[in-house]
Amino acid sequence: MPKLLEIKNLTRVFDLGAGEIAALDDVSLSLDAAKIMGVVGESGSGKSTLARIVMALDTPSSGTVHINGKNLFELSARDLRSARCDFQMIFQDPYGSLNPRHTVGRLIAEPLYLEENAPTGAQKRDRIATLLEDVGLKADDMDRFPHEFSGGQRQRIAIARALITKPKLVVADEATSALDLTVQKQILDLILDLRDEHGISVLFITHNIGVVEEICDDVAVLEHGKLVETGPTDAVLNAPSKAYTRRLMNAEPTLEHIGRKAWRAARAQ
Ligand SMILES: Nc1ncnc2c1ncn2[C@@H]1O[C@H](COP(=O)(O)OP(=O)(O)O)[C@@H](O)[C@H]1O
Ligand SMILES: [Mg+2]
Repeated sequence: MPKLLEIKNLTRVFDLGAGEIAALDDVSLSLDAAKIMGVVGESGSGKSTLARIVMALDTPSSGTVHINGKNLFELSARDLRSARCDFQMIFQDPYGSLNPRHTVGRLIAEPLYLEENAPTGAQKRDRIATLLEDVGLKADDMDRFPHEFSGGQRQRIAIARALITKPKLVVADEATSALDLTVQKQILDLILDLRDEHGISVLFITHNIGVVEEICDDVAVLEHGKLVETGPTDAVLNAPSKAYTRRLMNAEPTLEHIGRKAWRAARAQ
């Protein structure tokens, strides 16, 4: 069985005119099915560059990305389009990423153009309705507009949209960072459900290592485009080998502030 996601020796160099910057420098990582991997690092460490390449929205300078054994950058345009059903993204900004003039139903259905035999009519409405309920909204919400929803609800809509093609991998780039802590916690719960109930893997990109501690099976630490530490979250965070990782751990408020133990206990029930 190939790994769900296999990144090998990934390098992305940007030419800045006056010089070059390696936004990613020889990064290798892999992710199994039904796992959440946190990617952490300070601003400018290359997290979004990694997300964009894994989503085939940008191409590497060198190195490879395989999803389900397929080399993303060797697929034909047609094969890439159908492969895109397997990986979808949730962006940071639940305001900017949803066109305010479209209904929620239309927004959620957008990625269906990738599918060769996409459902239409009642079948399509059924799929949207099920997804809305899966993310904690109501089926009727499909006929409403984004401005009628709160930030947390909009992020649920964005998650439903990411799920409509039944992806195996979801890349979340700072997907909870713009939300207040209580709402953030609810969205993290939802991401855990994606793993536990739908077997989806998540590449969870964040500058907040406290959040990684809560939900990620594994963690990868990026510093100036280099992978400086990786492994099971508990192992890395209980015994961080790098001063950089320790610094990240001390930099951010964690979910302690909103009663992490209570949250864990509630989830365990
Ligand atoms: N399109 C681009 N052109 C030039 N430089 C870029 C581009 N995208 C990212 N960079 C640079 O690459 C580095 C990593 O950026 P990014 O991946 O956005 O980091 P992060 O998401 O961790 O904050 C930064 O120094 C950034 O300025
Ligand atoms: Mg970023």
